[in-house]
Amino acid sequence: MITEAVAGAANAIAERLGADFPKTVLVLGSGLGRFGETMEVTAELSYADIPGFPVSTVQGHAGRLLIGTAGGAPVACMQGRMHLYEGYDPQQLAIPVRTFKRLGAERLILTNAAGSLHKTMGPGALMMIEDHINYSGRNPLMGPNDDDVGLRFFDMTEAYDPALREMMQAAAVETGTPLRHGVYLCTTGPNFETPAEIRMFRQWGADAVGMSTVPECLVARHCGLRVAGLSMISNLAAGISPEPLSHEEVMEEGEKTFAQVSALMTAFLKRCAEEDVKGA
Ligand code: HPA
Repeated sequence: MITEAVAGAANAIAERLGADFPKTVLVLGSGLGRFGETMEVTAELSYADIPGFPVSTVQGHAGRLLIGTAGGAPVACMQGRMHLYEGYDPQQLAIPVRTFKRLGAERLILTNAAGSLHKTMGPGALMMIEDHINYSGRNPLMGPNDDDVGLRFFDMTEAYDPALREMMQAAAVETGTPLRHGVYLCTTGPNFETPAEIRMFRQWGADAVGMSTVPECLVARHCGLRVAGLSMISNLAAGISPEPLSHEEVMEEGEKTFAQVSALMTAFLKRCAEEDVKGA
């Protein structure tokens, strides 16, 4: 079923695009959706027009696939993503990522808004994801394995590609962007965490917490895409912050740090494009 949905979605995108699909796909998280405005867009597809694609229902998630260039670097952008808390069958979350792989993508750059587990990494900070903890209790790869796509039991030792991490760090230095590194922990949401949960997550070695990214990373690693991840810290997590948390705060912080994230991302995408030229 998933395989058919992927084939249908890939055909629909390829027909519309009529050109090569970019090797790099960027998933824009809460508050980063506006990155699309900085792109030269050559094709734009609403998820609703891609057969088999789950449609995002969250406020602030546009639900569009933009294809074009950013700072001259070819990229496909998911403007809006699907989350476990929206109630999808986790397997459906595999469809977009596998579709990109089928179309020839090689890298998946995942971005998100996240709560920080450190007072010293406050709102507006950027954290490159070095590793993750899947605390969602879900996995899009549960169920029968398609051996043509990937191994049943696959390795996650370097889930976040070391070379891409180096390139992101170099892009941060180039653009003068302070960049932290850390471990991202994924819950299903939709609630923000309790202070007791946050204390536990800290002891487990998590640095930031959110409700996305991990499902996509799992699907990407299974089918052999290289992954990079960036968290935009929108708030101090529950109990670390004296204030109650809200979605509005998450969105507002995204607006504030947009220029900085956008510059970092463009510099990183350029490095990806250079890597393609070298590798070609
Ligand atoms: N917790 C979970 N998800 C989030 C948070 C948070 O504090 N901030 C932004 N997304």
